[in-house]
Amino acid sequence: MPSDLVWSKLQELRDNALSAIASASDENALTTLQKKYLGKKGEVQAYMQHMKELSAEERPKLGALVNEVRDRIEARFAETEKKLADARLMADLKLRHEDLSLPGRIPNRGAEHPLQETQREIEDIFLSMGFEIARGPQSEWDYFNFEALNFPADHPARDMQDTLMLENGSLLRTHTSPVQVRTMLCYEPPIRIIAPGTVYRRDDDVTHSPVFHQIEGLHIEKGLNLTHLRGILQLFAQSMFGKDTKIRLRPSFFPFTEPSVEVDIACIFCHQKGCRMCKGCGWIEILGAGMVDPNVLREGHIDPEVWSGWAFGVGIERVAMLLHGITDIRLFFESDLRFLSQFRV
Ligand code: PHE
Repeated sequence: MPSDLVWSKLQELRDNALSAIASASDENALTTLQKKYLGKKGEVQAYMQHMKELSAEERPKLGALVNEVRDRIEARFAETEKKLADARLMADLKLRHEDLSLPGRIPNRGAEHPLQETQREIEDIFLSMGFEIARGPQSEWDYFNFEALNFPADHPARDMQDTLMLENGSLLRTHTSPVQVRTMLCYEPPIRIIAPGTVYRRDDDVTHSPVFHQIEGLHIEKGLNLTHLRGILQLFAQSMFGKDTKIRLRPSFFPFTEPSVEVDIACIFCHQKGCRMCKGCGWIEILGAGMVDPNVLREGHIDPEVWSGWAFGVGIERVAMLLHGITDIRLFFESDLRFLSQFRV
């Protein structure tokens, strides 16, 4: 074929291809056209056969022209593909009768539960002082919950805690103190841990829930005394309730600590003028604590002649109620979004 004819035929092929592609009615038609024009045995490639009929100068010209035609056709394919996809989307939208001018719906944002948040804040305070987190089981043996903690069998103090018994002879732990013993048995002193967790008691009113949460603290070191405990608890109270928070220690009794104390903070609601929250006395009880009883250290295989320790147990619900001025503990467990969404930050 004379070269002029090759050029003009190639241009004719290009124009036909471009208009055929542009008017393809759907993506299937497009695939067929793609094969027809650009396939290995397609019409564009077929022009390469004419190479041998051309002179040495004309050959590169043919190669360039074939490439150019192929590029143009490819570009047209891409445009048309996009056009068809857009059209399909619009058709779909029309079919679903969607009104794109409607404002969007704002999804509900979740938030940390106030108890979780309080627990994390307490943990952060003690982690920053070098304490580590320890955990223990919620179904516990009498031995760890009572006996190793110096509650003698049939001691009336066991009744103080309204224990829920399980059928296999174990019980639902009534406090996080069993983690003290488990930790002493697993680790060598010095020990500095906090143990957050769920605890259970047969108790149910506006300030008591049968399921609630505590954080236990335990520090065992040489030469510890009550002033160390006081110092740490003072720091805790100030970090939690504000830097001017005062605390006081009152003598108390727990079988596993000697001496034992109850710790109060100066009322954060009335600044000790007397209000409903502090029942007029200016102080609010927040936790129990004391020096670990030598009998408990011995149960934990720690020599009380060498080591001493202090411990405390704080109720997470209690702290959260004080922080947020909540007077009914049941609100924490009812999953009522009107209550929970107030804590969203
Ligand atoms: N376990 C005690 C309670 O639940 C609190 C406590 C812990 C007291 C550690 C002293 C030392 O009431």
